[in-house]
Amino acid sequence: PESGGSAPRVDVAVIGGSGLYALFPEGESESFVVDTPYGETSSPVTIGTLGGKRVAFLTRHGADHSVAPHLIGYRANIWALASLGARAIVSSSAVGGVSPDFPPGTLVVTDQFIDRTWGRADTFYDQGSVQHLAAADPFDPQLRGFAIDALTASLDSFSPTGTCVVIQGPRFSTRAESLWFRQAGAHTVNMTMYPEVALAAELNVGTVNLSFVTDSDAGLAPEEGDDVDTVSAELVFERLAAAQPTIVAAIEKIVAALPAGFTPRELIPAAAVAEVLA
Ligand code: ADE
Repeated sequence: PESGGSAPRVDVAVIGGSGLYALFPEGESESFVVDTPYGETSSPVTIGTLGGKRVAFLTRHGADHSVAPHLIGYRANIWALASLGARAIVSSSAVGGVSPDFPPGTLVVTDQFIDRTWGRADTFYDQGSVQHLAAADPFDPQLRGFAIDALTASLDSFSPTGTCVVIQGPRFSTRAESLWFRQAGAHTVNMTMYPEVALAAELNVGTVNLSFVTDSDAGLAPEEGDDVDTVSAELVFERLAAAQPTIVAAIEKIVAALPAGFTPRELIPAAAVAEVLA
């Protein structure tokens, strides 16, 4: 990979979750190492063309899935993408379904999260200025609208909303935790959606998330019957591999639907953001 100094500017960034380690056709992208004040990014940033736009792609767990969810350099990843000029991030996630209405195979344009993580560096504003992010709608409503329109035109079914519980991991949930999440109103569960989306919002970069339900989390109690979709790492990766073409096609549709020169919400004063990116 080349050094970040020569990386071209981009409009849109895509963050790949588990199972999504490459976005562009072989030989049609360039890789760059972007130096950040927060250490190394999970992988080099790959820049190529997708949906008619110049796109920066980063794989969240590293190209060989070597970075555990609680050890991901979320600030480095988001800072790198923002420093390349990205104003919109399309993030992809593998999630478990904790609601029976979100069975394996469901695609979700997530609109809310419940944060159950701990000890993660989750703000850019702990030195210098103090900022309190308004997080009522953590995903960019405009970007979500573009994505929902694009998917409505191209998919038979998907869920335009969904609340994701973000657990610390790396272990999966117990049956009691899973049931509790369901009762709390969550639909899906994942290990990485926080703090990524909040950090992007802190730099006035909008995020739209596309989640793919791989499993039914801890599943039903054995006496309730069928629990073949109970989560295991093997099941997650197997389902993701099978769904990869569907996920990449959906990401491409979303990227293509974003207007050129998209301006996200200014949730944090531009001057404070400029200081972080300086
Ligand atoms: N990612 C995919 N399935 C998951 C689950 N059941 N729990 C947490 N993260 C997941």
